Amino acid sequence: SEERTLAMIKPDGVSGNYTEEIKTIVVEAGFNIVKEMLTQLDKETASAFYEEHSSRSFFPHLVTYMTSGPVLVMVLEKRNAVSDWRDLIGPTDAEKAKISHPHSIRALCGKNSQKNCVHGSDSTSSAEREIKFFFKDVVSGDIATQQ
Ligand code: CMP
Repeated sequence: SEERTLAMIKPDGVSGNYTEEIKTIVVEAGFNIVKEMLTQLDKETASAFYEEHSSRSFFPHLVTYMTSGPVLVMVLEKRNAVSDWRDLIGPTDAEKAKISHPHSIRALCGKNSQKNCVHGSDSTSSAEREIKFFFKDVVSGDIATQQ
């Protein structure tokens, strides 16, 4: 059955003008782009999104990188969307991806283990959390508190 995952074109992908090429690959691979949002992450948002990595030595660099420019956040839908998107983007380390997965998106536009151009949810539970993180539906209660 249909499944959804959260995909993101990171700042290096957007500033490197890879957005259209990546979206073409996404659609040709059979994904439906059901939501998209171009946004600039601030420190607080990037830190919350990557909370699970907060104890890692690279965390401060990760937050600096992810706040360095706009990102394109997308909700992708297809059968097996989570694992199929992970397969399409390739390994975390783009340098290794260029050798082991030369047709992957990270081989196309990533640079190394940090500047790896794109994000993909690593499980269906992560996908659910990450989709809610960026696309929390505005309900009547939210509207009331905004006024
Ligand atoms: P991703 O796997 O999408 O989510 C965690 C991110 O942290 C990862 O992409 C990289 O951008 C970054 N990252 C992971 N490992 C390292 C590392 N060893 N050094 C720097 N950044 C990293």
